[in-house]
Amino acid sequence: MSKEAGCLYDGYSRRIHYLRLSVIDRCNLRCRYCRPEDGVELCRAKPILTFEEILEFVRVAVRLGIDRVRVTGGEPLFRKDVVKLVAMLAGVAGIRDLAMTTNGTLLSRFARPLKDAGLHRINVSLDSVDPERYQEITRLGRVEDVLAGIAAAREAGLSPVKLNCVIRQSPDEPDAVGVAAYARQEGLEVRFIREMDLATGRFWQVVGGDGGHCAACSRLRLTCQGELFPCLFSDLKYDIRELGNEEAIRRAVAGKPESGRTARNHSFDSMGG
Ligand code: 5AD
Ligand code: SF4
Repeated sequence: MSKEAGCLYDGYSRRIHYLRLSVIDRCNLRCRYCRPEDGVELCRAKPILTFEEILEFVRVAVRLGIDRVRVTGGEPLFRKDVVKLVAMLAGVAGIRDLAMTTNGTLLSRFARPLKDAGLHRINVSLDSVDPERYQEITRLGRVEDVLAGIAAAREAGLSPVKLNCVIRQSPDEPDAVGVAAYARQEGLEVRFIREMDLATGRFWQVVGGDGGHCAACSRLRLTCQGELFPCLFSDLKYDIRELGNEEAIRRAVAGKPESGRTARNHSFDSMGG
């Protein structure tokens, strides 16, 4: 593979050009595989990044070679003024793909403003289309809200709308079969993600996506507290406030492990998948 200037390569010749940006660690749902039921308010060790800090980091990252950005959470639509942040990100020249992953419960009112702010496309988490099962899985959610959110996103022209469906073992489980049927009927792409456990290193390749495929990994992850993680399945992290943006990015890229193993000190709740 020839290496181009203005690009970031890690120690295994992987080009790093995809940034997952967690803009909040809180969520309005309590999915069983993600969060405890009582949802004890997290006591943050560090204050949450301001929009200005996020924007400055992204500007540097794009200058160094990032060209895809995905806004995640927690639940990103739960961050105050998130539409304003999306507009700020959309104004950074050099991002060719600006996406978001959301649980969709608040999407019906946000879809149009997000599109107008410059968001390109959206992934919506949907683990079941059965109202009772959806509520069981998410503890607090109403599937009707999500389906309305998906419809609003399509109407607004956020394209494509893709579905993320967490499965226990196989896409043949009843909840997954239901989601697949809904997706087919609506002409939506769906990706099945086997439930993972960071602490034990149980992780799998995403069916129909490139997540979990270490050899092709192009990602960095920034938490809302300013920690840059080169790998979801490793405890390595680089604090952007301590190191500065460029140094944190260079170290994270240089330190990116060839493949993930286990991660004990962070979790999906603050990393947005
Ligand atoms: N295993 C796999 N995926 C998870 N997500 C959250 N927790 C887990 C887990 N334990 C992913 C799901 C969800 C997104 C927000 O994060 O894909 O849709
Ligand atoms: Fe919220 Fe997503 Fe976690 Fe569910 S999986 S609790 S929607 S962050």
